[in-house]
Amino acid sequence: MEKLIIEGPSKLKGTVEISGSKNSSLPILAATALFGEEYTIKNVPRISDVHTMLLLLETLGAEFSFYSNDVHIDTRKISKWEAPYDLVKTMRASVVIWGALLGRFGKAKISLPGGCAIGDRPVDQHLKGFRALGHDTEIVSGYLESFTSNNTGGSYRFEIKTVTGTENLILASIFAKSETVLYNCASEPEVLDLINFLSSLGAKITKTGGTIKIVPVSSLSKQNEPYCVIPDRIEAGTFLALASLPGNDIEITKCAPDDLVSAIEAAESVGSVVKLGDNSISTHPADDLNSISLDTGPYPLFPTDLQAQFMSVLILAGGTSKIVENVFPNRFIHVAELRKLGAKISLDANIASIVGVRGLTRASMQASDLRASASLLIGALSASGRSEIHRVYHLDRGYESIDNKLESLGAKIWRKNE
Ligand code: EPU
Repeated sequence: MEKLIIEGPSKLKGTVEISGSKNSSLPILAATALFGEEYTIKNVPRISDVHTMLLLLETLGAEFSFYSNDVHIDTRKISKWEAPYDLVKTMRASVVIWGALLGRFGKAKISLPGGCAIGDRPVDQHLKGFRALGHDTEIVSGYLESFTSNNTGGSYRFEIKTVTGTENLILASIFAKSETVLYNCASEPEVLDLINFLSSLGAKITKTGGTIKIVPVSSLSKQNEPYCVIPDRIEAGTFLALASLPGNDIEITKCAPDDLVSAIEAAESVGSVVKLGDNSISTHPADDLNSISLDTGPYPLFPTDLQAQFMSVLILAGGTSKIVENVFPNRFIHVAELRKLGAKISLDANIASIVGVRGLTRASMQASDLRASASLLIGALSASGRSEIHRVYHLDRGYESIDNKLESLGAKIWRKNE
């Protein structure tokens, strides 16, 4: 196991390029299982979650190569429809294979994903949606076993907006016998990216606000040209949080500012002057940060996936900031670790109150999940002295070469075996 060592405080300066989106790559790769063909997907980040998804597809019978950031995958020989416990337990997002397998084979067996460090993560909406569309699903010995009794299409209104739930129901409906309409769908840019990928292959999907209509097709077409996934808005938002800290001077490039409006507003509210280009964000941070209030919510509201990183900024702001976590109410596991640096944070149910401090000092911290790890990294970069972050594999699940990117901005950061 590796740990990260960070010598702070760092003044970061320069340009950073954003990688392709994790949460787009995973459903798009899963979607290649829906119809046996050859696909090339570009701008795929080299992160461990992507490797897990490729391993899952290989287990099902796919063949792939992954050079640089291009995945070439052949899914013609996929013949299995079971996502085993070992893979689903390492990556919850494996659940997006469920809709693809149901769409292709009319049956799927998926290990029931449990909760994780960010909280209880039910899949009841996937299940109710599948049932409403004619896919019977039972839980048997820890597995979700689905088979299609009558894939006539139909309609389902999500009781709560869910990203992978929306993606799963879209995937299962492409080859239905008649039209499917889904209401109250998630509108995250990654859902749109999946729709764009499927549409590029001839799927007939329209999205109007939260309503998605799928007119069935009998097959998908051969890919004419490689599909390029969108930039990772959460990686860009993580660098935006860093860029909002006094003394840093970071230009974020190869990103999609339009997908980051709420995070850009948060950076401006803490005092940064933010300049937007077509694919870039430049930030001039304030010398003294303002305290602010943030409420997380489904897109386009402030993303839960950036809550921890912005908390690491607010711990240095003047006054008291407030964060209300509305998506995963217990997603505060980073708080106890940030306190080790000297942060003053109190919790009351899903609300964090953060009293700004003037400086942070070094600590040894334990990463617990992907975004929490990023917040510890931001905290350690601000703290004086040599900090350590253990269990760095959490960070490697979703950030491509983050230590190299930070080093090129001037951070003193290196890895060491535990
Ligand atoms: N929910 C239910 N029932 C369901 C599904 C979801 O109650 O059947 C609830 C969840 O408990 C949560 C809310 O709905 O309160 C939203 O959860 P959602 O289903 O949208 O989450 P997800 O699809 O499992 C994706 C991202 C997460 C991100 C969330 C929220 C992927 C692969 N994962 O998860 O990303 O936090 O949406 O935006 O797209 C990350 O990248 O670090 C990460 C955790």
